[in-house]
Amino acid sequence: MSSINFDHIDRAQLPALLRAAPKAELHMHIEGSLEPELIFELARRNGVALPYADVEALRAAYAFTDLQSFLDIYYAGASVLITEADFHDMAWAYLQRAAADHIVNAEIFFDPQTHTARGIAMGTVITGLHSAAKRAEKELGLRAVLILCFLRHLSEDEALATLDAALPYRELFVGVGLDSSERGHPPENFARVFAKAAQQGLHLVAHAGEEGPPEYIWSALDVLKVERIDHGVRCTEDPALVQRLVELQMPLTVCPFSNVKLCVFDSLPRHNLATLLDLGLKATVNSDDPAYFGGYLNQNLVETFEALPALGARHAYQLLRNSLEASFATAEQKAPWLADLDRLFLTASVR
Ligand code: ADE
Ligand code: ZN
Repeated sequence: MSSINFDHIDRAQLPALLRAAPKAELHMHIEGSLEPELIFELARRNGVALPYADVEALRAAYAFTDLQSFLDIYYAGASVLITEADFHDMAWAYLQRAAADHIVNAEIFFDPQTHTARGIAMGTVITGLHSAAKRAEKELGLRAVLILCFLRHLSEDEALATLDAALPYRELFVGVGLDSSERGHPPENFARVFAKAAQQGLHLVAHAGEEGPPEYIWSALDVLKVERIDHGVRCTEDPALVQRLVELQMPLTVCPFSNVKLCVFDSLPRHNLATLLDLGLKATVNSDDPAYFGGYLNQNLVETFEALPALGARHAYQLLRNSLEASFATAEQKAPWLADLDRLFLTASVR
């Protein structure tokens, strides 16, 4: 195949290319895909009282000052999820949107402790989410898998108990992650539970360097031995860390809308995505909590490119390729996605 001539693709073509391209979503919390309309529908279905009069009042509360101010509302929103059907319906709604965005591979985070703490059984959570993932594979033709996240504001003993409770469902999820309030909760606090997950053959990822310092990225790498860093945008404060991440070609699952909504960056034009790519870091773009942060994956991609004139066709291709390569799919699964991506950009570059 002849090579893609990126100089022949002008910026006006990028929105259509970004939208149409096959892509992977590697950082999306399923509880963060709960749209206000579905929150109210589930609240009605389950007789749960909400402290907001209606959808508009809830949406109006989505003005965040930092990660914690978001998490308080996000955990409250998840309180409407009670039955297996609720978890299925939430995931199915996301997966239909994912397919519309030409996501061919979705690796979906879920927070079981948010639910088990309210008396919901682990099996209810995992089985409901997994049935939607299987349905998506069959009806939408996309690969969807689950990653169980431990809440880092809780103890490692609670994380270990959570892993034990999930192990009867070991075949229904592919990895573990670490999320929730980052500051004051460094990755090394979770060394034992990550080692135990590794023994089970689970993939390992962790949020690090979102609000937390570069040291948290070092310990996610060296202590937890993760395969991807979620966010990681603060790595640029430490040149030795950047060098290490580049050498490892460690994927960073960057979430531009999230970073602006949670005040990690003042605005989209100030985001460091172009810098990360130009440093040779294996960055990807993701939606994090799309129902709360103003858009799903294609919107994150298109608006970030609009906001950052330094991003061109080569960056677009690189980000999309990185997302597919950094996924936990097999080489056989990735090959046709990568070929489709190449074909799309090659066609766009022919004059
Ligand atoms: N849980 C959901 N979204 C999160 C984020 N952006 N950071 C940490 N924990 C989260
Ligand atoms: Zn996240």
